[in-house]
Amino acid sequence: MKKKIFNIVIVAMAALFLFGCGKKEDSEKEEAKEAVKVEVATTGPTIDSIKEKGKIVLGTSADFPPMEWTSYQDGSEKYQGVDIALAQAIADSLGVELEVKNMAFEGLLGSLKAGDVDMVIAGMGADEERKKQVDFSEEYSKGKQVLLVTEENKDKFKTFDDLEGKIIGTQLGTLQQKFAEEKFGDNCKGFDLNNVIIEQLKNKSIDAAFLSELPAKQFASITDGLVIIDNLGIPDESGFAVAIKKGNDDLTKAVDEIVKGLKDSGQMEKWFDEYIELSNKEAIK
Ligand code: ARG
Repeated sequence: MKKKIFNIVIVAMAALFLFGCGKKEDSEKEEAKEAVKVEVATTGPTIDSIKEKGKIVLGTSADFPPMEWTSYQDGSEKYQGVDIALAQAIADSLGVELEVKNMAFEGLLGSLKAGDVDMVIAGMGADEERKKQVDFSEEYSKGKQVLLVTEENKDKFKTFDDLEGKIIGTQLGTLQQKFAEEKFGDNCKGFDLNNVIIEQLKNKSIDAAFLSELPAKQFASITDGLVIIDNLGIPDESGFAVAIKKGNDDLTKAVDEIVKGLKDSGQMEKWFDEYIELSNKEAIK
């Protein structure tokens, strides 16, 4: 009899312990979610229609770690990165699901203007020309741009003049494509995907790739034999921001507040650290 009571006590203690642990994990998860939750005024014609759909549709080009990339872990395909976390926080604040539409960077603003997506977050620089077509939130990251070359070329390109006659790869529709074409004309080659640019660089079909600094750093750190040149006096590009269709002012205002909140709380900076580390492990080599 004594033994039976003892057993019951042990089982009860184990159950309490397990239950307690589960609760702790749950509350930690909730706390983390709360930390990124930004309360915003969430009504207005666009927001109401998003709530009616029950989802907000993000347009992105998932080839740009650490901002966004396609990760293939455990056999499943998943979009990851700072921009995806930001999009998820926006969806959470509005109380809707997030749907991600992955497409070529060049097609993003067209899709936004056509209403195929509700917002574009793609490491997109808010430059004056784009501002004529769409609205942007406050910027959430500075935009530097650099040249990526193979190790053996690292000392050959010291000035812009050294790039004369060299083939420069850029992603179609980017600020880098525009800048490089103005500077180097026909020697620029445009590609849909950054992964393809990296392949071309590795197999020496192009001499240099011209990219935003953060992804260039990621590609250099996950690819053998690639190095960054950042002392050519290349001007900064515009800072990254969320793009929203002109006229959807209620959504622009809400997203603006969310971005500000995430910057002020330090969450945005945390995501940068977190996704730089994760993309070093997960992004395609
Ligand atoms: N920052 C550059 C631009 O705004 C390149 C962005 C490319 N983004 C991407 N997800 N592939 O034009």
